[in-house]
Amino acid sequence: MTRSTLSLTAFRPEHLEGALRLSRQAKWPHRIEDWQLALELSTGFVALDANASTVLGTILMTPYKRDVATINMVIVDEAARERGLGRQLMEAVIALAGPRTLRLVATGEGLPLYQKLGFSQTGTIVQHQGPASHVTAPINVRPAEPRDISEIIDLDRSAYGANREDLLRAVAKVGCLAVVGNDQEITGFAALRDFGRGEVIGPVVAANADDGKALLAYFMAGREGRFVRVDTAEAPQLGAWLTDKGLARVDESIAMQRPAVARSSRAPFTTFALASQAFG
Ligand SMILES: CC(C)(COP(=O)(O)OP(=O)(O)OC[C@H]1O[C@@H](n2cnc3c(N)ncnc32)[C@H](O)[C@@H]1OP(=O)(O)O)[C@@H](O)C(=O)NCCC(=O)NCCS
Repeated sequence: MTRSTLSLTAFRPEHLEGALRLSRQAKWPHRIEDWQLALELSTGFVALDANASTVLGTILMTPYKRDVATINMVIVDEAARERGLGRQLMEAVIALAGPRTLRLVATGEGLPLYQKLGFSQTGTIVQHQGPASHVTAPINVRPAEPRDISEIIDLDRSAYGANREDLLRAVAKVGCLAVVGNDQEITGFAALRDFGRGEVIGPVVAANADDGKALLAYFMAGREGRFVRVDTAEAPQLGAWLTDKGLARVDESIAMQRPAVARSSRAPFTTFALASQAFG
């Protein structure tokens, strides 16, 4: 096996088209806008060929303040695999992330690489998608107002374990947010935005599965027949319900973290749907 001798370059907007070619080759659904949002919130690297004209590898690190970061968009061109480039990209962003706890969602292909770099499984992410059907709009969910954003950031921090303010503000800008609760207090929220083949609902954060379903139903109702995606770590609580509403279970991935710090199971709020596999 010939080892890769490619040098890495900072990932910049001019690399987005080349990155899109790689995600399409890997059969990922990302549009250029999805890559743009990821790059806006992240820093990372590309590997270019010897002429510096073709993107042969990508990686991004999305920091959530100083505590946590996700590693995402890890792709190596089919023609350049198994020569150490995936490891080279990973080692570069691990250095970039500094002391942050790192999280990622692994495909089967990425799993051995992440295990070798000290990541451990923390859960299973189940991807549901399809055209929503027979969903009744809940009565306890309303559109979020600008003044709700700080409570939304706090709820998300409680569930996720890090401050994802930049992500939530960016999602609110390109999509929309809804909240569950009463006049005094918000006890959950959900976001919807365009992504891939249609729209994605997430994050969905709530105190219990009934509120999680109500938040999902708020966006699914009125989208009869339109393609919607939900990535959930809470498939035992949501899987059958999502399938019943037209969102079939299509794939499963592995949530990983480094180092393997146990999260408190006493958090009062749960992330019922991820913002995306990239953002967690
Ligand atoms: C995952 C991916 C980025 C790996 O890229 P790559 O350049 O082939 O990776 P490397 O050559 O650096 O190999 C990584 C390590 O995993 C090991 N590895 C790979 N497949 C393995 C397997 N099936 N069993 C055991 N080890 C394996 C390699 O031996 C290597 O170990 P080493 O660094 O100790 O020698 C690439 O396969 C890819 O782009 N896949 C499609 C997109 C994808 O799924 N990305 C992951 C998203 S989470």
